[in-house]
Order: sequence, then C-alpha cells, then structure tokens
Amino acid sequence: MIDWSEETGIWKLDTPGTTYLIGLCEGRWLGHLYYGERLQGTAAQMAPALGLLRTGEPPLPPGEDIGEEAGFRNVFPWEFPTCGGGDFHEGCLDVRDEFGQSGAVLTFAGASITPGKPSLEGLPASFAGESEADTLTITLRDEALGFSVELLYGVFRDLDVITRSVRVVNRGERALHLTQVLSAALSMDQEGYRVITMPGSWARERRLQLSDPGCGTVISESLRGEPSHAAQPFVGLVSEKADQESGRVYGLHLVYSGNFLGRTQVDENGMLRAVLGIHPWHFDWKLAPGESFVAPEVVCTFSAQGLGGMSRTLHDFYRRHLIRRPQNGAWHPILINSWEAAYFDFDEEKLLSLARTASAAGCDLLVVDDGWFGERDSDAGSLGDWWVNPGKLPHGLAWLSARLRELGMRLGLWFEPEMVSPDSDLFRAHPDWVQRCRSREPAQCRNQYVLDFSNPAVVEYICACMDHILDSADIAYVKWDMNRSLTDAGSSYLPADRQGEVFHRHVLGLYRIQEHLRERYPSLLLENCSSGGARFDPGMLYYSPQIWASDNMDPVSRALTLEGTALLYPLSVIGSHVCKSPGDIVGRRVPLSTRAICAMPGTFGYELDLRALPERERAQIPEQICVRRLLQEVSDEGDLYRIASLRESGDFDCIEVMAKDRSEGYLFALQVLEEPSMRSRHIRLAGLDPHRTYTVQRVLWPGEDDEEIPGQREPYLRQKREVLTAGGDVLLRAGMLLQRPKGDFVAELFVIRAVESGESRQAR
Ligand code: DGJ
Repeated sequence: MIDWSEETGIWKLDTPGTTYLIGLCEGRWLGHLYYGERLQGTAAQMAPALGLLRTGEPPLPPGEDIGEEAGFRNVFPWEFPTCGGGDFHEGCLDVRDEFGQSGAVLTFAGASITPGKPSLEGLPASFAGESEADTLTITLRDEALGFSVELLYGVFRDLDVITRSVRVVNRGERALHLTQVLSAALSMDQEGYRVITMPGSWARERRLQLSDPGCGTVISESLRGEPSHAAQPFVGLVSEKADQESGRVYGLHLVYSGNFLGRTQVDENGMLRAVLGIHPWHFDWKLAPGESFVAPEVVCTFSAQGLGGMSRTLHDFYRRHLIRRPQNGAWHPILINSWEAAYFDFDEEKLLSLARTASAAGCDLLVVDDGWFGERDSDAGSLGDWWVNPGKLPHGLAWLSARLRELGMRLGLWFEPEMVSPDSDLFRAHPDWVQRCRSREPAQCRNQYVLDFSNPAVVEYICACMDHILDSADIAYVKWDMNRSLTDAGSSYLPADRQGEVFHRHVLGLYRIQEHLRERYPSLLLENCSSGGARFDPGMLYYSPQIWASDNMDPVSRALTLEGTALLYPLSVIGSHVCKSPGDIVGRRVPLSTRAICAMPGTFGYELDLRALPERERAQIPEQICVRRLLQEVSDEGDLYRIASLRESGDFDCIEVMAKDRSEGYLFALQVLEEPSMRSRHIRLAGLDPHRTYTVQRVLWPGEDDEEIPGQREPYLRQKREVLTAGGDVLLRAGMLLQRPKGDFVAELFVIRAVESGESRQAR
C-alpha cells in the first residue's frame, strides 16, 4: 500500500511487515527517512519522522543557508544521490553534457501512484497483477540539463519486498551521456551493521562473508561482463546481534546479469550509504533528445527475523514474482548429463548406453553437453558452428531424440551462444563479429572470443542458428553456457561515442535471445550456466527457472556454496548433480549416498558414468530418485531453515525444509570428519507447529540394516526403527539429538512428518 501526504511531504510505502518512508525537504529535495519494521498510521501521521533528515542541524538546507549548499548536499540522506554537486559519497547518477562537463542536481517534479507493476523494456523484472502490488513513480528533474529521472517503486502486498528501478529521459534538445546510473541507494545511520558479500572463484562460488565496514567501504563488484564467480549482485546489511532467526537484516538484490557495483560506505559522520546498480566502469550511454534509459531493478527487503527471514521472503518472491516456468508447468526432470560422464569423448552408442542405464534407474532426461556440434573434440574450436557433428551423431538429433523417447526419456542440449572460436567457420566468415578494440588483437580465453551482441545482426544470427537446431528435433531442455569473461569490450558496429555501451548492450542481447527462445519454444526448459556458477543472478532467473550453481559437486564444497546461494535463491533453482568419487575437481572419496543426499536440496541429477559404478552402488540409484521425487514439492515450495553452518562449525552442516502447512519436511545433515569421544549433536528444529506432534525418521538406504514393512514402496516409509516422536514445541524449543554417524563425509536425510490428530493424541 502507498500513502502520500501533501501536508507533510511524506510517502509511506507499506508491505505486510515493513514500512519505507520518503520525505521532501523544502518541497524540492527528496530524502530517505526510514526503512524497517512496519509503522502504524498514515503518511500524514509520520511528520515526526521528518526530523530524521536532520535538516534542523547545520549545514542547513539551501532555503535557509544558501552559503552552505554544498555542505548540506554532503550530509543529506538523499533518496537518489547524484555526483558532482557536493555529495562526496558514491552517487547513483552522473551525466556528461556537450561541453564534456559532468554532474547532476535533481529536484522534485511530481509523483503518481498506479495499481500493478509495469515491466521494464528489454530487461528482466518482477511481475505482479493489479491486486498484488502498486507502483509509486516519483519524477525528479535536472533543470540545467533538461532531463528527468523517474524513480519507480513496486510495493508488494503479499511479501515484504519493495522493488526499485530508474528511468532517465532526455527531455532537452542536446545529447547527454549517462556515465553512472545505479538503481538504488539506501542512506541511514550506521548502527553496527555488518555487510554481507559473497566472494568466490571457479568451483568455489558464493562463499558467505560478513565484514565490518568500520569507517570505510565494503565493495562487491564485477567488471567481467557478468556477475562472475567472484561476487554476487547483492548488498546485505546485518545488525550486530542478528543470527539465523533474529535481528535486523536488509537485502538489496540486483536483477541484472552484467557488470555491477554494490558499495557500502560509512562516512566520518556515521552515515551509512549503500548503492547498487550497473557498474559505472566502462559505462557511457549516449542519450539523444527524446530517448530514455532504464536501469535494472533492485529487489529490496527488510527482515526483523534474521537471515532466515530474509531468505524465506526472497525465496517466495522469486518463486511467485520473478521465475516464469515453461508453459507446460513445473517440469522437474531428473537428468543424466554427459559432461563429467564422457567430456568430449562420446558417440551415439555411448550416449544411448548411458541413457539406457539412466532410464532403468528412473532418469527422465539425457543432456548432451559440450561437444555435439561442428568439429568439436576439445575446447579448441567450433564454437559458433551450430550444426550437428556428423562423426559423433551420424543419424542426427531427431533420430537420437526418438531413441530416447523409446526409453521414456527426453533430449537436452548444450549451447554456448555468446562465443565464437577463432577456429570456426563463423569466425572465418565474420571476423568483425567479435568484441575487440580497433588498435589491438582481442585476448582469447578458453580458446574463444566473445561475440558482439551490440550488433543486431549477430543477435539475429544466433537466434536463427538456435531455432534451426531446436526445430530439427524433439529437444526439451537447453543448457546455456558462457565460459569466459568479457575483455576488449569494443564493437566495430557502434560509433566511437557509443563504445561505452558495449557491456550493457551485450547483456541486452543475451536477454533478447533468451526471451526469443521463451516465446518461440514455450515448453522448453532452459538452464543457465556460466563456467559453473559465474552468472547466478536474479536476471537469469527471469529466463530460466534453474541455474547451474558450480562445477564443483563435491558435497563438502557444495555445502559451503549452498549456504551463500540458498541465502538468496530458492532450492528449486539451484542446479545440483551427483558426481563421481573421487571427483574430477576435488579428489575426495565420498560415499554415493552422501553425494546423492547433498545434491537433493537443488534440481538433482547425475553427472557421472552410471555404467561404471559397482552393481551395489547402481542399485541405490532408483531409491535415491524415488526419495528425491517424494521430497520434490516440499523442497521446491517449502520454507528453508539453516540449522547449522559448516562455515561456522567447521565440521557439520544442517538445513531443514518444511512445507508451508508445516505438515512435512526434511532435514539434511552433513558430518565432515568423524571425531572420537564426542557426544551426540544437539539441534533445534524450526518451522514446526508447536501444537502438533511430529515423527523424525532417518532414511535408510538398501543394505542398511532394518526390518521392512511389507508392501510399502516409499523407501523411508517402509522401515520400522529410528523414529523419534515428539511434540512440535519440544523439537522447536528443547530440540533433539543427532547421533554422530560412523565415518567421514557422511550425509543423512531425515523425514519430519506431522502425526494425524488421532495418532497425535496417542503419542502425547
Ligand atoms: C562449463 C560448465 O559449467 C560445465 O558444466 C560444462 O558444461 C562445460 N562448461 C562444457 O564446456
């Protein structure tokens, strides 16, 4: 709900549990008053909050002391700060005029409130119907340069989320250059907040880190043309005493897949300013008269229930308002992927024999990864040559998909559409289609160049290539990969004064092709991937309901990556497979049951040569698939609780997922190393109904000693022992003990079920 009071000059934006206040000073300057727990009352009743602008303290606003205007600009908590006029913190906007001079000064020009939420042209953005959200548009104007800025706030009625984005419109008669357009800022007093960042690397993505900014700056950024393995387009602020389930937490998450800057600064006066948006480095967007530029959306949330509260809001928000599923609904195939099973070394027979084993175990989809096209037998060539390699697949894709159909499986295919190999027919025909600076040769990475998506002809060509392949066979799934950072970001298509647009235009081209795929193949399941998890961002989520999280599938590494990833993203989107042991990236020997349990909180699939497994292990796979299917719905739609963190404990990781109706859930526990002479682990469950009774039952795999209940098909329902029955209040407050399993790298899966009321009374 959005309320405006002309009398106080305050906008009050309410979600179910939060309030966001914006206020006008002297009728001109737009300031940020408050974001936090919901406040009762109307905008008119918020007048006392205007005091938070500190406009009664020197340096006074220009209306009262024109001689100290610059000083005022540096201390005022701007709702949308600009550069060059006296605010020496990071600003959101900088503009260069025809004289080469920079700066922007914005004053209030008007506002409107509309039901629903508009889409952002060419960009991914959350969506909502007229009954689900309202939009506040505040227009600011730079009188000197003749442009306006529209600040768009989407205020959601079902969740504690406010989205922000920005449209800059050139209303003057001369071209301007936007050299910095960040999407959102949050200015407030520093009250002991720590900053969440997610540094990482290839095979070590999104490792949660909390930093104290002191009097200084914490930066999360990417200059690589994508968010990268090394950072997440997110700014999180966590109050001093916050933990998983209590304390104040702010989250700002950018719906964008390119260069970004997230900067949190605490200044000498104790003011905290967080900003987030497209990185200003190498950004220079020419705005001709009448043109407009839209900056990507930021999803803002506040939680007074700690990190877990923020996570659950974001998960629900992405599931309800950002992810567009294929039109055939939520299809969750359990797949077998050829990459770590065969790398480039496959042919029809090998693929089909892998598929036969996988289909016997219960898999739904064979994904033919890198190597099916051109003359590709290694990563040395053929990117861009999107036709079937006749040596490997002489009967073609239609034939292969028909054979898979006979096995009850579908076909999935890998593409890397943004790239071209120097050794390819495409590059030989169009050497000018790569990103490069005129005066030097571009740098190769993984033996490849990046295509110039600022050139519409290149984007059209790639669409046509993909259509040709996807029209040729029954292809149910596409894995879109991207295996190098952008360098030498120059375009032979754009004029000199638009070269600063190349990075952003690349992202727009990427979005265009993925939108095209969605329109033309409405039931295609798209999974994004970038050399593991280098482009795991909300922008990609708008086009693909799942994203490959990391090439590293080792359970211990994955537990650390999952903590960061699942802090922001629902489990249903997190690409996760069972790998071989020892793995190709981390050489740990890990039991198959551990690898499977650790892949279950995610999309789930297999990425190893199932044929090479000993019979004893192969026999476990149908059971694993059966269990995974049983927990699918809860895992995809339920609430996530972090019970223990490997990052903090060093030896134990534990998460719980509970259905929204609190009737059923799962507990995933991982012990890293066994230690002698240690007592059992004491944990407290979460998300249960304190008035109900629950059973907690460990899943036993075939071969584990237990007496079976005849006739029960579901693995975890057919065993008799290892059941704990207790009231929800006991499990929530007093907690329960987990016995330490024997051995290293042991994962266990527990099923939590509410006992029906009759049984419940008996148990109590
Ligand atoms: C990187 C991906 O993350 C892998 O899963 C695989 O698809 C390779 N690229 C193929 O080149």
